[in-house]
Amino acid sequence: MTFRDEEVICFCFGFTAGDIRQAIARGENTLDKLRESLEACDRCQGCRGEIQILLREQEPS
Ligand code: FES
Repeated sequence: MTFRDEEVICFCFGFTAGDIRQAIARGENTLDKLRESLEACDRCQGCRGEIQILLREQEPS
């Protein structure tokens, strides 16, 4: 599964896949770091699975 950049991933805070990808590219490459820096996935955690998919995209294959 993949997400378009403009797709909203974290509905609590309105972060799109593009926002999350940019944060990951800046080095916030774990769920904990993303929670700390963006507060993404820091409320209902309903976006956790989607964020983990975005994190896995960055792993070398
Ligand atoms: S959808 Fe991301 S914390 Fe609720």
